[in-house]
Amino acid sequence: MVTGSRRFFRSRLMALMGTLLPMVAAQAVTPVEQLAAYTAQAGEPAQVARGQQFFTSRHGRDWSCSSCHTANPAVSGKHASTGKTIGPMAPAFNPERFSDAAKTEKWFRRNCNDVVGRECSAGEKADVLAWLLTLKP
Ligand code: HEC
Repeated sequence: MVTGSRRFFRSRLMALMGTLLPMVAAQAVTPVEQLAAYTAQAGEPAQVARGQQFFTSRHGRDWSCSSCHTANPAVSGKHASTGKTIGPMAPAFNPERFSDAAKTEKWFRRNCNDVVGRECSAGEKADVLAWLLTLKP
């Protein structure tokens, strides 16, 4: 009796872990979910024009975001120092974009530090992503 319910409980637990673990590991999300999260964190609606402006301008340093990603997120970019090809930034032109929250955060952190000299705010990330999501084939 005791063993039976324990076994039952354990099998339910394993099933639950089987569902949750892959989600946590890959942090699979959609670009729209990431935009919603950044907007909620920022506490104000994202602004498309401000996102484009932020992405294509320099911020007191040598590079803008478009130095590597180009000013057209529908096409591939090229790393400003290594020359390596970087896939398009707009999700409509590159389905892998903004589908893994850990990857998105890692690159926002690295690239904002390079371009702006600090991490981007949630509002800046929301603006950029909102702009990228307006671009359609
Ligand atoms: C020196 C080159 C360089 C600059 C400048 C640069 N990036 Fe990137 N960025 C990369 C590379 C390399 C990757 C990773 C390769 C990939 O994802 O294709 C990347 C990936 C990203 C990603 C990951 C997107 C995803 O798939 O989730 C984001 C977000 C991003 N960059 C935003 C920015 C922003 C915002 C700026 C300006 C503040 C910027 N980048 C400037 C090189 C650059």
